[in-house]
Amino acid sequence: MGRHKYRPFVLLTYPLFPKTVFPLLKPWARVHVAKTRSDFLKQLPQADAVICLLTDSMDRVTLTRAKKLKVIGTYSVGVNNIDLNECRKRKIAVVHTPRVLTRATAELAVALLFAASRRIPEGDQLCRKGGFKGWQPQLLLGQSVSGKIAVLVGKGRIGQETAKFFKALGIRIVWITRRDTETQIKKKLQQAQILSFHIPLTPQTHHWLGPQRLKLLPKDCIVINTSRGSVIDETALIASLKSGKLFAAGLDVFENEPRIPPRLRKLSNVVLTPHIGSAEESTRREMARLVASGVRALFQGKRPFNLHK
Ligand code: DGY
Repeated sequence: MGRHKYRPFVLLTYPLFPKTVFPLLKPWARVHVAKTRSDFLKQLPQADAVICLLTDSMDRVTLTRAKKLKVIGTYSVGVNNIDLNECRKRKIAVVHTPRVLTRATAELAVALLFAASRRIPEGDQLCRKGGFKGWQPQLLLGQSVSGKIAVLVGKGRIGQETAKFFKALGIRIVWITRRDTETQIKKKLQQAQILSFHIPLTPQTHHWLGPQRLKLLPKDCIVINTSRGSVIDETALIASLKSGKLFAAGLDVFENEPRIPPRLRKLSNVVLTPHIGSAEESTRREMARLVASGVRALFQGKRPFNLHK
């Protein structure tokens, strides 16, 4: 009897675009799509690779069960769901989905900026509730974005793409990067008429915007977040929005998703979207292709560009 070649076991936590993903995996791997978290945990000790979502925690305790795991592919550019130190220790490679969602996420930042500055959700609500009684000179006065100074926190791909759009709207860009000192950050925040976040969530960026930095912002600043909720101290942000110090905020991400604090939901000067930065058909399909082909490349002994360093 001929010897069978070992077929790696790839465990998915979600049936991601099967027509795109399965042809990339099934020719060389056994593939199982877990139906529940407990099914996932049950299968994990046998898995050579996991393809997961940003909502699947791959923390130290979970990784302890993953005795054979060599690769994690996360269907996201952000990798804060994964304990990277533990992966390094266990020699588990991580692939993610950079580049393909840059445009879509930057577009949402622009959409949130307009929605917040021109009070679009408030207008929409007014119309739906029958509150539009006729044109009025002072109805829902917003802010123009043109000529404003936007401080962008994070000069990665998404930050740079957002800056391109903002510049086209006549917005002046000021960057805050990792290299800035606290004094430089302070000076920049004092000029921010728009403050937009494009940084990954790490222990260093957790609550990057807290009460002290919020105090530095000029009155009527607009805060936009399409990165991760926890880069902003949500409680402090709510207080600033409530006090009228900030004009508005446009938030696609929250500290404890999917929970959005009722105090935030009640505010009329905040625009909320349910983490849809990359939620555009072709982007989401490309993300699926990228994560699956990254996993495949590693099993073929190649180094894919989407390997997280
Ligand atoms: C990511 O990829 O990290 C986004 O938050 C969702 O696409």
